[in-house]
Amino acid sequence: MKILNFGSCNIDFVYSVEQIVVPGETITTKGMEVFPGGKGLNQSIAIARAGASVYHAGCIGQDGVWLGELLAENGVDISYLKKLDAKNGHAVIQVSETGENSIFLYPGSNRMLTVEFIKEVLLSFSKGDILVLQNEVNLVDEMIRLAYEKGMQILLNPAPFTQELKRIDFNMISYLVLNEVEAKCFTGTEDAEESIAYLLEHYPDMRVILTLGKKGCIYADREQVMSYPAFCVDAVDTTAAGDTFTGYFIAMLAQGKSVREAIGLATAASALAVSKMGAATSIPTKSEVEKAMFDLKPYEVEKKSREAQISEKIDRYLSIHLQDANMDGLAEALGYTKVYAGELVKKVTNESFSALLQKKRCACAAGLLCETDLSVTDIINRVGYENESFFRKVFKEMYGENPLQYRKKRGAGRK
Ligand code: RIB
Repeated sequence: MKILNFGSCNIDFVYSVEQIVVPGETITTKGMEVFPGGKGLNQSIAIARAGASVYHAGCIGQDGVWLGELLAENGVDISYLKKLDAKNGHAVIQVSETGENSIFLYPGSNRMLTVEFIKEVLLSFSKGDILVLQNEVNLVDEMIRLAYEKGMQILLNPAPFTQELKRIDFNMISYLVLNEVEAKCFTGTEDAEESIAYLLEHYPDMRVILTLGKKGCIYADREQVMSYPAFCVDAVDTTAAGDTFTGYFIAMLAQGKSVREAIGLATAASALAVSKMGAATSIPTKSEVEKAMFDLKPYEVEKKSREAQISEKIDRYLSIHLQDANMDGLAEALGYTKVYAGELVKKVTNESFSALLQKKRCACAAGLLCETDLSVTDIINRVGYENESFFRKVFKEMYGENPLQYRKKRGAGRK
């Protein structure tokens, strides 16, 4: 399964301001820096830093050659990045003291895609491959149609939202990742639950991920709706937080992670991005994310008891180290001795470490059975079992049916 991101590359001119300027006002900025950016470039870098392979397609101008070099340095394949005799797209960004931003774009080379070029790039991709799109390039509707005809999975991040997007048949979209502002433009309501309900009612096969800033995010598909908390960080610059989330999310799914795991890592990655200045430059690597996950506190857990925080840490350790989890590793992650860590697990979860581990492994396997076409053997390896018959026995005890029966009932396989 290959990932193609057809998107923008911008030069970001970032101005630090006390407050975002309002109409009619003139302000003096506190500083100015130039960063690489563009939703497309940011998402490709996030995908690459999350450990997945990605092809970035799009157009850069004469002044944007360094953006292509940066993509390549980050391991992104730029075989489909075209250099035009034009001005590169750029963004003028104000970042306030509280980390909020306000952006306007000059599209330049980003909106110079042609149908011919798109068709030529898509020749190298086929059924099952993933096309990642944002809305900073032209011909988004055409790309969706052509990729859908090929049977590709399409992830659309409808940002920035424009009315033309409403003409697209979203039944062709596999994953829609959007924020509250975009959801409101699209569905007409500010209420997150109502937005989700609207989207699923109209596009029942789509998987929707609605990001809600400090309130975390909601994942929904035709079978489930799940909420995830955001992590507490000192926001320095929120630019590219959404791009980091989107890139990590799809990279993790492509690497076989369940939706739950993918969202956990994507949320942590975007929290880290927010605590640094700049767009692409603020995107963390996977190992930075994995390291930081133990120290990040979910917003809603901040005021919770110590026990709840430990339970959170145990959960995070198990979701990152599901395959190779052991008491030594958990004790190290918690910062306690093995014996004390074992006692803590019992106290906060009412279960032994081993029972908890079986539960998590089976839950992850259940998710993969429903969400992917992976074989049972692959799933068993992925969740960390060495002995297949042991897995089948534990799974049956927990879910009352064997893995294949479980998959059959819940209609396996991604679109
Ligand atoms: O999402 C952040 C990006 O939006 C910035 O890098 C800027 O280029 C704009 O496209």
